[in-house]
Amino acid sequence: VTPATHASLLTIFGATGDLAQRMLLPSLYSLQAERLLPEGMRILGTARSELDREGFAQLVADSIQQRIPAHERSEEALRGLLERLDYLPASADDDASMAALAARVQALRAGDVLYHMSTAPKFYGPACQALAAHGAAGPGTRVMLEKPIGKDLASAIAINDAVARAFDEERVYRVDHYLGKEGVQNLIALRFGNALFEPLWNARHVEQVQITVAETVGVEGRGDYYDDAGALRDMLQNHLLQLLCLVAMEPPARFDPTAVRNEKIKVLRSLRAIDASNVATESVAGQYTAGAIDGAAVPGYVEELGRPSRTETFVALRAHVDNWRWSGVPFYLRTGKRLPARSTEIYLQFRKVPYSIFGGAAAADMRPNGLLIKLQPEERIELDLMSKTPGLDRHGLRLSQVALDLDFHQEFSSARRRIAYERLYLDAIEGNGTLFVRRDETEAAWQWVDAIAAGWRDAGMLPRPYPAGTWGPGAAISLVDRLGHGWRE
Ligand code: BG6
Repeated sequence: VTPATHASLLTIFGATGDLAQRMLLPSLYSLQAERLLPEGMRILGTARSELDREGFAQLVADSIQQRIPAHERSEEALRGLLERLDYLPASADDDASMAALAARVQALRAGDVLYHMSTAPKFYGPACQALAAHGAAGPGTRVMLEKPIGKDLASAIAINDAVARAFDEERVYRVDHYLGKEGVQNLIALRFGNALFEPLWNARHVEQVQITVAETVGVEGRGDYYDDAGALRDMLQNHLLQLLCLVAMEPPARFDPTAVRNEKIKVLRSLRAIDASNVATESVAGQYTAGAIDGAAVPGYVEELGRPSRTETFVALRAHVDNWRWSGVPFYLRTGKRLPARSTEIYLQFRKVPYSIFGGAAAADMRPNGLLIKLQPEERIELDLMSKTPGLDRHGLRLSQVALDLDFHQEFSSARRRIAYERLYLDAIEGNGTLFVRRDETEAAWQWVDAIAAGWRDAGMLPRPYPAGTWGPGAAISLVDRLGHGWRE
């Protein structure tokens, strides 16, 4: 494998789309403003829209105007970005347009080329093959693929195979935008930059792990996609399983693509199957009905969608990583739309003290230690400890739970909040795949998730209703309660 050099051209498919306008173009602006884009790197936008270069430049300027706060905008950075732009309409199913696009790519490139597929996944294979057919794939090129890679194992294999005919695996960068989030990378820093946690990071000391990705939004006009996917495929197959991998993996020998991804795949392969035999006890699916978020009334899922549906908008699971480190430790995963708060967090609850020297009231005060890694909306690490309650008590000493709290926004107050794509683009431009998902990971995750979906189908399990603005169906509470656990409030 020849080491990648930085890209001389970034070609974005779907460059006029929603993701591009909300995330991709503003991220490129920020990289430009911080002078992190390689000198002379060009950006070629392509989509079906019949725009010219000026039209595209206007769209880019508008999206920056909308997305980047005024105090972070500079004329110079905007000009610098606009100077890099070019645009050519093309469509993966129109060969003449792909030939013209490939010719433009060859004319603009001065070295490596990075393609970014931000279109419907059914176009990934055809677009990659057209690029190959017209001589614009091959050595010195690489491709970023957005999620979803398929909707089950079979469709993921079909997409991966089609892409593989044009790009070798080490040149395929599958995006899971959670890996680009500061908080997620900080989890890696916390685990492997400190000697303190590693000795405790195992089944001897950890009682349970919880991973929550809660959203207040509904389906946001993406009903057609979402109703086909549901929470299990849309969020759990990718974002939650990636977080689980980073929490559960063994220390990689190096922070590089092969070492990190070799450890993640071992975790995915150690996941105990949840299938028809245990789906009823190990999983809960839910669908929101009308309710209220922050005091404002919101419609139910089927009203929003405008047709009946059995798609789950909430899922909670009890997962097990069956290996030496984690044997017997439940990993509770939950995610849902229209929950009471936007919150992404990982919580490790440690085992209780082996023996309590405190009697009476203090014994009842005892709570296990916990480590909270909060990723959204704020980035925070909290260590829950027991401490003496100040003062005197006739019955002797009393205890209270206190938190050692590290708020990253206070600690690094000058650091700007970044869009996850800034990190991901910078890495892909530089040719570093550590924070991207390898083919075997995607496919192992699909295999595990497919068994759950098939289990639901075979057991005739339908999503249970929950009112918008609540933490999902009551059964999600019983799921953790059964082993004497409780969701962290
Ligand atoms: C996407 C899902 O991958 O992640 C969306 O398709 C979801 O349904 C989104 O809303 C959440 O991302 P974030 O960065 O807002 O937590």
